Amino acid sequence: PLEPPKRLLEKLPEIDVDDGTKKVTIFFGTQTGTAEGFAKAIAEEAKVRYDKATFRVVDLDDYAADDDEYEERFKKESIAIFFLATYGDGEPTDNAARFYKWFTEGGEKGEGWLKNLQYGVFGLGNRQYEHFNKVCFEFMHSSGFLSFQFHFNPMSVCQLMQVAKVVDDMLSDQGGKRLVPVGLGDDDQCIEDDFTAWKEELWPPLDHLLRDEDDTAVSTPYTAAVLEYRVVIRDPLEASVDEKKWNNVNGHATVDAQHPVRANVAVRKELHTPASDRSCTHLEFDISSTGVTYETGDHVGVYCENLSETVEEAIRLIGLSPDTHFSIHTDDEDGKPLSGSSLPPPFPPCTLRTAITRYADVLSSPKKSVLLALAAHASDPSEADRLRHLASPAGKDEYSEWVITSQRSLLEVMTEFPSAKPPLGVFFAAVAPRLQPRFYSISSSPRMAPTRIHVTCALVHDKIPTGRIHKGVCSTWMKNAVPLEKSQDCSWAPIFVRQSNFRLPVDTKVPIIMIGPGTGLAPFRGFLQERLALKEGGAELGPSVLFFGCRNRHMDYIYEDELNQFINTGALSELIVAFSREGPTKEYVQHKMMDKASEIWSMISQGAYIYVCGDAKGMARDVHRALHTILQEQGSLDSSQAEGMVKNLQMTGRYLRDVW
Ligand code: 2AM
Repeated sequence: PLEPPKRLLEKLPEIDVDDGTKKVTIFFGTQTGTAEGFAKAIAEEAKVRYDKATFRVVDLDDYAADDDEYEERFKKESIAIFFLATYGDGEPTDNAARFYKWFTEGGEKGEGWLKNLQYGVFGLGNRQYEHFNKVCFEFMHSSGFLSFQFHFNPMSVCQLMQVAKVVDDMLSDQGGKRLVPVGLGDDDQCIEDDFTAWKEELWPPLDHLLRDEDDTAVSTPYTAAVLEYRVVIRDPLEASVDEKKWNNVNGHATVDAQHPVRANVAVRKELHTPASDRSCTHLEFDISSTGVTYETGDHVGVYCENLSETVEEAIRLIGLSPDTHFSIHTDDEDGKPLSGSSLPPPFPPCTLRTAITRYADVLSSPKKSVLLALAAHASDPSEADRLRHLASPAGKDEYSEWVITSQRSLLEVMTEFPSAKPPLGVFFAAVAPRLQPRFYSISSSPRMAPTRIHVTCALVHDKIPTGRIHKGVCSTWMKNAVPLEKSQDCSWAPIFVRQSNFRLPVDTKVPIIMIGPGTGLAPFRGFLQERLALKEGGAELGPSVLFFGCRNRHMDYIYEDELNQFINTGALSELIVAFSREGPTKEYVQHKMMDKASEIWSMISQGAYIYVCGDAKGMARDVHRALHTILQEQGSLDSSQAEGMVKNLQMTGRYLRDVW
């Protein structure tokens, strides 16, 4: 396996060249490729609808080299469409982070500087968090905080589709004319339906802008062509040469998702006791001589491998030899990009086995476009019909039930339609999405472990509605990893570090409250290592309290000895553990917080920082409510005053969440 190639900077057609055509730029901020897919899909359809306009799809990171260039280029745009994903605690995607920072914080750009721009924004995210965030968002609006709050930390404020909403609002505030209301695609439901509905709203204003007055032609219904990469079958004897090229020097100035480094697994151990029926892995990546550095609180992105049983199943369904050695090309033989694609090949030359192992996500549920791609290559007409039906508006409910609710994987769908055998160029372009890196909160501090990145990872092992056991790709890989201490031929993975805003206060004397049940403990282990190192270096530490939660002290009380050691050394002032399955009733961290309400109130009054890490949908939401109640009761506030105080803590960066 090889390093994913660097994105080639797209040769952007000049915006201000007046060749008589209207120019539309379609931007995407993508993490898993969905936003990018929508951007490309809309461009393809628009090209057919508007033959007198020019469309280009642009990765926000590639658009401009610096802030000045962003400004200069945006001033020349007249029609722009944005596809912006939000993830984590309201954060932009990595490739939109620089744009977002510049756009939201990058200083005054002059009143109405976007007055020539007409735009539409589609956001991608997860509506499960909506309630919490909507309140939060509306507060920012109603209090006139929207422009103000960016001086603090916009990313810690709300989650969900906030990136799209913020950009949509700010484009309008700065003079842009909104063509359609911001579209919101919910990743938990059928995001493709949200996209289709929004697209239908976008066409009428675009018709108005891009069609001549006398052009009354009714557009013919558009059917997307199935993208097919060019595949070159290579000499099998060269395979081993190609596959040995991965080394730990990546040759690029930066290490990021496009340019990971190879890191060996130095240590791996199980953190649960044998009495537990679950598993949690402590893993250490060796980053010496990789050039990778990190800070306490950062995340590590890990490109892991599919399980061999998954790979074998996929290869069987594709129906080709696993040793087929091939390369994939996104251009034609003359070097012209296929279907306007500006992206480099998705992976370097390798065997089919390696391609599936490292690059193909075959366990997620297939999108409707995938069903259409399979239909196009199904030799049995009844299978093709059924696939097309599932992807059609008439099959909406069946798709939702059979694919989404049942969490049917791509492999399961392919098993049900055995005659669908897409060629490799289609399989990797339109059927299997790229296997995404998994992110983990780093559980060490570089002050204690400068050459190691520690990860604390709970095993994902769920029974899903179809009866299949879903084995988490990366957590299973970690659980089975062979560490260097056991074998020279140890496991390794391409990794990179992503900065986070989860940081200890600069002043070590400021009190801190940490709440992290289960693997939510990870970043706090890093924090405590950091505090211990600071203390040993002579720093004076303020009070700190950690709320940890697990099921049973004899099963899943992870890092127990270390936590006690942090107490003994004074890195941690107080450790409070909620055991949820020891007594007759469930005890969770939020219950323990209520018991300590006056202490929490007093620490907050002294300027404490509050950190929450762990599950967003249950724990973080309940902890948020507990905090609200504590402020209300201890501060004798009414509900809206308490809400205001929570928001204030968020906006001043004193209430930080690392949630998933
Ligand atoms: P449970 O599994 O017994 O429900 C770490 O996973 C700990 O977090 C476990 O003790 C788990 O309890 C607990 N937990 C589950 N849901 C929670 C929630 N909504 N709030 C706080 N803790 C929760």
